[in-house]
Amino acid sequence: MEQLALLGGQAARTSPHPEWPLFDDAELTALQNVVSSGEWGRLGGDATRTVEEAFAAATTCKHALAVNSGQTALRLAILALNPPAGAEIICPAYTFIATAMAIVEANCVPVFADIEHSSLCLDAASVASVITERTIAIMPVHLGGVPADMDALCNIAEKHGLAVIEDASHAHLSTWRNRQIGSIGTIGCFSLQASKNLNCGEGGLITTNDSALFGRLSALQNNGRIPGDPSRYRHAILGGNYRMTEFQAAVLGCQLNRLDEQTQHRFENGKRLNTALASIPGFAPLPVRDGETCNAYHLYCFSIDDTYFGVPRDEVLGALRAEGISCGPGYATLVYEHDAFVNVDFGPYTGASNGYIASIDANRAKCPVSDEVAHRSGAWLPMTELMADATGIDEIIEAFAKVSRLRDNLANKG
Ligand SMILES: Cc1ncc(COP(=O)(O)O)c(C=O)c1O
Repeated sequence: MEQLALLGGQAARTSPHPEWPLFDDAELTALQNVVSSGEWGRLGGDATRTVEEAFAAATTCKHALAVNSGQTALRLAILALNPPAGAEIICPAYTFIATAMAIVEANCVPVFADIEHSSLCLDAASVASVITERTIAIMPVHLGGVPADMDALCNIAEKHGLAVIEDASHAHLSTWRNRQIGSIGTIGCFSLQASKNLNCGEGGLITTNDSALFGRLSALQNNGRIPGDPSRYRHAILGGNYRMTEFQAAVLGCQLNRLDEQTQHRFENGKRLNTALASIPGFAPLPVRDGETCNAYHLYCFSIDDTYFGVPRDEVLGALRAEGISCGPGYATLVYEHDAFVNVDFGPYTGASNGYIASIDANRAKCPVSDEVAHRSGAWLPMTELMADATGIDEIIEAFAKVSRLRDNLANKG
């Protein structure tokens, strides 16, 4: 008789998990070229500049700037706006902590708005409700690769004279109404950390169509040097060394060459999973909204109906894992629930800490959807699962179907 793998049955998945990262001789040769050139930093080499140009072209942006991490990208994007201490930036609480930490590290105040159930991205109505005279920017996160509703968010931003900083850490080559994510707002920020769809171990990329902002971003990244200034020791503004190394850039260039094909592969697999999950009781895919022309699927987000299963989400996920599926509950702790934010342990960032203290109690009431998704229904597969071949996807679908069919065994397992 059929049985859950959790209870001793045969696992639904028998094929191996896709490997990640993927590389071949191209990466090895590119790295070797940097080593033997002797130019290991961007001030002497041209690998970083070359990959910036390629990424700007891929995202249809005028400019791209490489930095040392996604959080740095976000922080420099804010600093490029020259915000006064304590300026407010609206972001989701359902995100990786770096989104909000970058705001604090820019001496600004993160103000949380709720997300839409349909996209898990910022809800424009919630954003509108938290705007004050201190708000300077909206920072949508394209969660898991799902493009946020850039029509609604950019409309609000325009109406109130706000910048839009896109946290596109999950969304390389996602598109909204066929426009590249990272090219729609004022500035786009991408993470290149090892788990990301585009990866060089660590790193970040900033995109913009605004040449003045790009000049300021370049200086912030390079100890305050103004781009094009031949003097190595002239520093016009406060900046730091946030430069990417030529080693990272060399690997990144090779990875970027594969990104389009990999993105299409995940997008097609995501569509297959959407169709399948829509008819498996107890699970639901995110609906595909009008305007969502490409989802890069850094994460495959879905929801679990614990009333159907009669057990909490984590037990359902445990059953899926036993069937051989990598999955997790997503961001099960909202940003404002982490100790750093509960205790307002913001170190020297006084602008942010003064402004934040007053808002602590109000956050949960303002973000009921984030609360529900984080603590009850949210779940995801990592993007490596979306890199599977057709057999792998069949097995993932069968694992979902099996756990759904055998829900009584799970509920009664004692
Ligand atoms: C949504 C989001 N924003 C920002 C970051 C920060 O990127 P990094 O780890 O490269 O600093 C991440 C990284 O996981 C992320 O998931």
